Amino acid sequence: MDSRELVSKACEAMKSAYTPYSGFKVGAALLTKGGKVYTGCNIENASYTPTICAERVAFFSAVRDGERDFCKIAIVGGKGGVIASFTYPCGVCRQALYEFGGPKLTVIMAKDENDYIVTTLGDLLPYGFGPAN
Ligand code: THU
Repeated sequence: MDSRELVSKACEAMKSAYTPYSGFKVGAALLTKGGKVYTGCNIENASYTPTICAERVAFFSAVRDGERDFCKIAIVGGKGGVIASFTYPCGVCRQALYEFGGPKLTVIMAKDENDYIVTTLGDLLPYGFGPAN
């Protein structure tokens, strides 16, 4: 699957975000090496700390299905679901993805299907702590 299509799936997933507290909606689409896509949205909570990011919803859903090998993840976000800038994954999500994604995982931050930045998890989390440690 190409990056444009993955970004499109992240945008679709963002529509399910539950964000009554921050109003900031995020969508993520994670592509496995086998070609499956797992999507996620952020889900907030009245007591705040149980809030979970879109990236981890996608990642944990994939792992729940037995997936361990990933190619890339696309992320979109914006206040009220309006994407005005690139949304980078938070530190907790970088660490969570590192477990199975490792430094080679491709990470795409997008404004839309035609405007996105491509980097790697190794660039976003240098000297990351993973299973090898
Ligand atoms: N959020 C994500 O879903 N992913 C990130 O990488 C950054 C932050 C969510 C969490 C919270 O619901 C909202 O964005 C504002 O922080």
